[in-house]
Amino acid sequence: MIETKTAAGRHFHFDGCDVVGLARKHGTPLYVVSETAIRARIRELKADFLDKHPGAFAVYASKAFQTLEMCRLVAEEGLGLDVVSGGELYAAAKAAFPMERVFLHGNGKTRAELEMAVELGVGRIVVDNLDELETLDEIAEGKGKRVPILFRITPGVDSHTHEYVSTGKLDSKFGIPLDPSVRQAYVGRALSMKGVELKGFHFHVGSQLHENDSHLKAVRVVLDLMKEVKEAYGFSATDLNLGGGFGVRYTKADSPKGLADFTDPMMAAVTEGCRERGLEMPRVVIEPGRWLVGEAGITLYTVSSVKEIPGIKTYVAVDGGMPDNPRPALYGAKYEAVVADRPDAQPTTVVTVAGKCCETGDILIRDIALPAPARGDILAVFTTGAYCHSMASNYNRLPRPAVVMVREGTDRVSVRRETYEDLVARELP
Ligand code: LLP
Repeated sequence: MIETKTAAGRHFHFDGCDVVGLARKHGTPLYVVSETAIRARIRELKADFLDKHPGAFAVYASKAFQTLEMCRLVAEEGLGLDVVSGGELYAAAKAAFPMERVFLHGNGKTRAELEMAVELGVGRIVVDNLDELETLDEIAEGKGKRVPILFRITPGVDSHTHEYVSTGKLDSKFGIPLDPSVRQAYVGRALSMKGVELKGFHFHVGSQLHENDSHLKAVRVVLDLMKEVKEAYGFSATDLNLGGGFGVRYTKADSPKGLADFTDPMMAAVTEGCRERGLEMPRVVIEPGRWLVGEAGITLYTVSSVKEIPGIKTYVAVDGGMPDNPRPALYGAKYEAVVADRPDAQPTTVVTVAGKCCETGDILIRDIALPAPARGDILAVFTTGAYCHSMASNYNRLPRPAVVMVREGTDRVSVRRETYEDLVARELP
């Protein structure tokens, strides 16, 4: 892409692309995702986890950012794919993702989704509850199949993150509570079934974590469970899925550690814990989502207006907002941004970046110091690669942005922008 410059200096560049040029070419709001950054994370994942621990496996939690292209990239890199709905599974199949590397999650899987998963032959179904177990067994038996499953357990650990993304507490809608009475109901039942083959256990303690303590506590809990079921049923789990949740940098306040700061102690805890309990070492799987794609994405907006409320604050309104990034409204998530036209200019004012929805809570960034944004400027918001495109809505009938993939100065549309016609396409005349 041709580099554009202003008299004031160089524009902000992302993976070798002038983002002001990208905004002109593709329009805004625009998700820009760096293939280079994603592949760099995958290289780190391989060097620091897969190569260090032969037999271990990594699955990309595609809810973070799922496109057909992303599925193909993950397939080509040899990783697995975590899907959580018929829609995500459909896209994986459409991208010709190898089904034996797919994990199907979810606490409310429908019969149709389970049928689809059995039909497609997904590698693992992670069973969340008894109703699902019974339905799955019936479906699989009916098709003459035996489906490999894991049980999602609730390890009863409280991870220190936003309540809405903390999933390992005992009071959680996810997973099987660990209590001897339920153990029999689930494990005992599964082991007696013809349609399912219990392989092991899964937990996911929460998301955007910077400390490894909840993962480590959960490892101890799940190993205790593995020991109990081995003693009670002679069942040795061969699979142990430790979930995702590894944090990324959204703002200066975040100082994420490397992946190995989680996985090295987790693997040591599994190895040591198995030895102590007389268990065979299972095949360990991790499921990073945000960590693989979060920092690989930025969102470009055009400033529509700048409104000063004397003595109170200045609102900078942009052409997107909560429909393309609901995270500030949902979780109070914090972001940083740059005026892409003059990234090196000194901040001169503190502003609040507001989305364009009819909703007071549609604020993208509160109180950020910027070099006096003006109508027409391009604002680049960082770390929007995860849970933005995948959580986008059409509230206020805003068309969802395009996704442009960039790589070392080249750009290509991966998902086209929605049109107004798309917005009414499902409505009957
Ligand atoms: N595995 C399971 C079973 C999960 O439920 C999740 C995320 C992951 C892996 C990946 O977690 P990650 O590595 O991305 O933290 N929408 C929220 C995040 C919800 C995460 C749900 N489950 C957000 O925008 O922060």
